[in-house]
Amino acid sequence: MRTGITRRPDLYDAIGMTYHLTRHADLRLARRIRSAVGDATTVLNIGAGTGSYEPDDCTVIAVEPSMVMIGQRPATAAPAVRAIAEALPFPDQSFDVAMALWTIHHWTDLCRGLKELRRVAGRIVIVTSSTVMNSVWLTNDYWPGMARQRRDDIQPKAVVDVLGSPARIEPLPLPRDCTDGMGEAFWARPEAYLDANVRAGMSCFHRLTQGELEHGLARLTADLDSGAWDRRYGYLRHIDELDCGHRLIVAT
Ligand SMILES: C[S@@+](CC[C@H](N)C(=O)[O-])C[C@H]1O[C@@H](n2cnc3c(N)ncnc32)[C@H](O)[C@@H]1O
Repeated sequence: MRTGITRRPDLYDAIGMTYHLTRHADLRLARRIRSAVGDATTVLNIGAGTGSYEPDDCTVIAVEPSMVMIGQRPATAAPAVRAIAEALPFPDQSFDVAMALWTIHHWTDLCRGLKELRRVAGRIVIVTSSTVMNSVWLTNDYWPGMARQRRDDIQPKAVVDVLGSPARIEPLPLPRDCTDGMGEAFWARPEAYLDANVRAGMSCFHRLTQGELEHGLARLTADLDSGAWDRRYGYLRHIDELDCGHRLIVAT
């Protein structure tokens, strides 16, 4: 499997300091994820971060390599084990469900991580985006450098092929007022990208060069001031949800 850029499991020790400020589970996305988890009793949440979307009516163990992320988990969150997806410290089939939400694009060895999920759990629930940035205007018009981050191996079909079992792949559209400030969350709220605190919670911005960042910021500021953005994309402000390329994968 090819990867576009170097990845390391401790990346979030460097970029995740303010994650809890802008990345709050969105209730509409949470409902979809909870439904995919189904009647599981035990859930392993891999790349768990600060604990968003962990079902509170199951026994959950979190796996997370970054101490900075573990440190932001609420006191009431599930216990976290410091480990990586590629080497899960659990016996075969020890969980009903293995959940990996918005994390697989960060893994160093995706194939190995997916096989580990398969090994430890009966059912797998993954949320991913087939391109890192599918909200076309953001990448095409302002920060084309984000396209460098695309991984060919994140196509949902390729993920399912590695899992090697029956699976369904469903679109997971992002609501216009999504409360989880991931890269594409502000597809109808372009002003948000001018806020450094908002950008801090999005790994796609951390991978840009300073020059790329500043060039895009200047362009977006100018287009918002002149009304050019609204002439081109203002219709987005009136749409309830948008398919930004995120996919919910449920494999049995
Ligand atoms: C965008 S965050 C998603 C966190 C959480 N799942 C959520 O939905 O808010 C990606 C997480 O994946 C973790 N991660 C990165 N590489 C990993 C690996 N190889 N194995 C497990 N987790 C990894 C990061 O430390 C980070 O917490």
